Parts: sequence; structure tokens; C-alpha cells
Amino acid sequence: MLRFDTDSTVKNFIVLEGIDGSGTTTQLRRLSSLLERRGLPVMATAEPTSRPEGALVRRILKGELDADPGTVAYLFAADRNQHLYGAGGILAAAAAGKIVLCDRYSLSSLAYQGMTCGPELPRRLNGEFPAPGLTLFFRLAPEVAMARVAARDQLEIYEKLHIQKLVSAAYDEVVAEAAGRGWNIVTIDAEKPLEEVSARVDAALEEYLQRISMASP
Ligand code: TYD
Repeated sequence: MLRFDTDSTVKNFIVLEGIDGSGTTTQLRRLSSLLERRGLPVMATAEPTSRPEGALVRRILKGELDADPGTVAYLFAADRNQHLYGAGGILAAAAAGKIVLCDRYSLSSLAYQGMTCGPELPRRLNGEFPAPGLTLFFRLAPEVAMARVAARDQLEIYEKLHIQKLVSAAYDEVVAEAAGRGWNIVTIDAEKPLEEVSARVDAALEEYLQRISMASP
């Protein structure tokens, strides 16, 4: 059963989540340089990773390789497991005192793979990974998000409006469920202009860093 494991919450682990085109990558880059400029130790990372496990997933997402939806769920979970527990991974960096910023984590699997292979398998595979200390959930209408994504060169298999509508609904459910189980999740209205979104993100981050006493002097 899904525990959304809050017993082992990693406090200096901050995750950004949202449908495709919600702006997580832009915000991750911005936050990373913001924290670095303040002299705080940061590791900025993303899932799928650039390791071989993640590269395999990316080939599937591009449509270059065919895979059963269950296989995709296992691959994302394997990539995440290595990303968390491997040498130089999330837990090692967090234990060394870094603030780990990660573009996507287990809620992505619950939302995306939950849609393609049903909720059971991704829940089973992800339920015992530790909870991040803070999750920023970028929420916006799938129509708006897809209009942003349409400008990109190569679209991945999930980047279609009817799929993003399902992923969006799934996100709303899994975010509510995780919050109900004690995850610290801040929902950001990602339809607002970039400056407003950024200001909201900065405020949420600042509040959290104060709480865990990592704000710079
Ligand atoms: P994305 O953050 O969009 O990467 P990029 O900006 O480099 O294209 O992530 C790629 C896709 O992977 C995105 O559509 C969401 C999907 N994904 C899952 O389906 N499950 C997962 O567990 C993760 C981490 C991502």
C-alpha cells in the first residue's frame, strides 16, 4: 500500500512538479542560481535523470523505443531509486548539507504512469520513497500549458492535449492525497505572468528555508 513515506522526509530536498509546460524547468534554473548567489550549497537535478536508466526512459518518451506502460513505470522507479540512493545521489547530497532541487519526482510517476498503466503499479513502486521537505506544484490549465509546449521542436509522447488533461486531473488527486498524508506541498498558480509565479515561488522557498533554518544570514 502507498505510504507516501513521511517518516523519512528529507528536509533539504525540494521538488518541482506539474504537467508539461507548467514551467518547472525554468523555475528550477532560476531557484538554483538564486540560492547559489546567496552562497547556499545547491544540487540542481531532474528526473528522468541523465544516467543510463533515465536515457532509456527518454528514448521511450521520444517514441524511439516501444515499451509496455508497466515497463515504463518500472524504469522511472529504477531511475529514481538510483537517483536517490546511488553515489552522489539525492540522499548523499542532502546528507552533505546541500539543498537538493529536483525537477519532478514520485508524484510525476503517480500522475503520468497512473494514467497509462493504472494507479496500482506506480503506487507500489513509489510508495516507500522518502517524501521531499517541500514540493512546489505548478498548476495551470492544460490548454495554456500545451500552447507553451507547442513552440518546442520535438514533442514527447505525453505532450498532447487530451493526455495532459488526464495527467492534470491525476495530479490534482495525487497532490491532495500526498498533502493529506503529511507532504508539505505549496500549489503555485502557474498561469500567472512569469514575474508573479517567480515571486510566489521565492516566497514559498524563503518561508521554507526559514522554517528549516537554512536562510542565509
Ligand atoms: P520533462 O520534465 O518534461 O523533461 P524535459 O523538459 O527535459 O522534456 O520530463 C519528461 C517527461 O517525463 C514528462 O512528460 C513527464 C514524464 N515523466 C513521467 O511520465 N514519469 C515520471 O516519473 C517522471 C519523472 C517524468
